[in-house]
Order: sequence, then C-alpha cells, then structure tokens
Amino acid sequence: MENITELVHCRRSVRTFDGREVNEDVLKKLALFMEKIENPYGIPVSFKFLDGKKHALPCPVVSGTDLYVGAKAPRMPHMEEAFGYSFEMFVLYAWSIGIGTVCIGGTMDRSAFKRAMVLEQNEMMPCVSPLGYPAGKMSIRENMMRKAIRADSRNPFETIFFDSTFDVPLTKEAAGRLAEPLEMVRLAPSAVNKQPWRGVLGKNGVHFYLKKTKGFASGAAGDMQKIDLGIALCHFALAAKEKAINICFSVSEPGITADADTEYIASYLLPQ
Ligand SMILES: Cc1cc2nc3c(=O)[nH]c(=O)nc-3n(C[C@H](O)[C@H](O)[C@H](O)COP(=O)(O)O)c2cc1C
Repeated sequence: MENITELVHCRRSVRTFDGREVNEDVLKKLALFMEKIENPYGIPVSFKFLDGKKHALPCPVVSGTDLYVGAKAPRMPHMEEAFGYSFEMFVLYAWSIGIGTVCIGGTMDRSAFKRAMVLEQNEMMPCVSPLGYPAGKMSIRENMMRKAIRADSRNPFETIFFDSTFDVPLTKEAAGRLAEPLEMVRLAPSAVNKQPWRGVLGKNGVHFYLKKTKGFASGAAGDMQKIDLGIALCHFALAAKEKAINICFSVSEPGITADADTEYIASYLLPQ
C-alpha cells in the first residue's frame, strides 16, 4: 500500500453503496491481499467474502450492496488488537482500490453473520464489513447516524498524546518525526467514534494505552475498544514505515502511572 497518509486523510466509513456489483478483478485483488495480511501479534486473522442475499444477512445501516467480508480469529489474549490491526489493513487496501467499507461490530444480526462465517468453537468474529462502490450521496439514515456520533470530528492532538507522563500534553513540535504517525492514529476510525487511544512518548518510543469509555462493556464479540487500539497501532506502524522510521513492536508495560480506567496495550520502540 502506498500513500498511507493520503489514504488515512480521505478514508471514511461507507454505509451507502451505489448498487453496482464489485467486479471480478477487484474481488481477486482483495482476495489476494487478504491472504497476506499479517499483524504484529502473529495471531492469524482469516477473511471470507459473504453473500448477503444467499445467507440472508440483515445489516440495517447498510444499503446498496449484498456483498460483505467477515473476519475471524482464535480466542486468545490480544486477539482483539490483532484483529483490529489486520481488519484495518484490509479496510485501507480496499479504499486504495476504490472499495468502500465500514467496520460493523454492533449494528448487524450477529447470529446470521456467524452462521455464514462458520466459526470453530474457539473462534470469534468481532466485526464484518459491507463491500462496494460508495454512492454519490449518503442515505438519510447514514447522514443522521454520522451526525449523532460526530463521525467527522476527532479529539485534538494534545488531548490524547502525552510527553513522558500523562500529566504533560505532547505537542506536534515535541513529537518531532513521530508527529505524523501519531496524527494518523488520531484520525483512525473507532467504534461509535469514541477514539479511546492514548499515547505517551517516552525516551525509547511511544506507549499506547486504552482509555476505556464508561458503559462500553466487553461482550461476546470481544472488546470493541481493543479493536480500536489495534486499528491505531496499524495506522502508526504503516505511517512510520512510509516515513522510513525504524520501529520495533513490544508488549512490555513501561511503568508509567495511569488512571484506573486506562490500560496499557503495546509500544512501538525506536532502536537506541
Ligand atoms: C470496532 C468498530 C466497530 C464499529 N461498529 C459499527 C457499527 O456497528 N455500525 C456502524 O454503523 N458503524 C460502526 N463503526 C464505524 C464507526 O462508527 C466509524 O468508524 C466512526 O464513526 C468514524 O467515522 P469514519 O469511519 O467515517 O471516520 C465501527 C467502527 C469500529 C472501528
């Protein structure tokens, strides 16, 4: 994938499609790409196209397409972060070839999607997405939904990123060459646009945390906000790679004091 910064800037969720079937060439490209997706946890996430008509897959927020993609992974620690990372790789690639998606973790008939996906006993399918060509105009329902969750806005940089401790806001200037990868995290999509990611710039890299939203319980589909964190890690890693910044993934609690509702997730370290 090229031009990550541009892709992240122009991507948006698509729930209203123009009714055209996705052509064979594009399906082949997507299928080839999904086979190769990896995440830093090394947890396998497998993708499958789902025919919404054949399997009767109701998804009330989506219109203008019957094609979906589902993804599943084994139930294990860090499964959600790995899932979010891999799913976002797919989402960004699809967007880069003109295909709209929206990560759906709530507004679907989960049992119907799970049946279509065919899950083994130890597997989970946290999210699915419709696939298709974005319509020129959003449905009234999608418009209203975006307004209700303020889908076009994001928290300011200094309120989500910190310098050494959670007490000191991080400015873009102080973030230096990491400002751009962090900005890509800031612009990431998240469940109900809650943007639960936080980052602390330390001496040896950036430590990512989840600031849990009250009432956002982890359910049978996993913890949606950990999926958000996986998405954030994906944006950071792709943007750093594009800027030729050498980073190394690590899950090792750095010992920074955090609020009780703030959980350490992972770090990207800079080689010393
Ligand atoms: C983990 C996750 C779950 C989501 N679940 C839903 C959902 O159930 N229904 C829906 O319409 N949108 C869902 N979304 C899409 C978000 O609402 C959307 O990403 C956010 O409002 C930001 O808008 P944008 O993607 O256009 O930037 C989900 C997004 C994520 C990352």
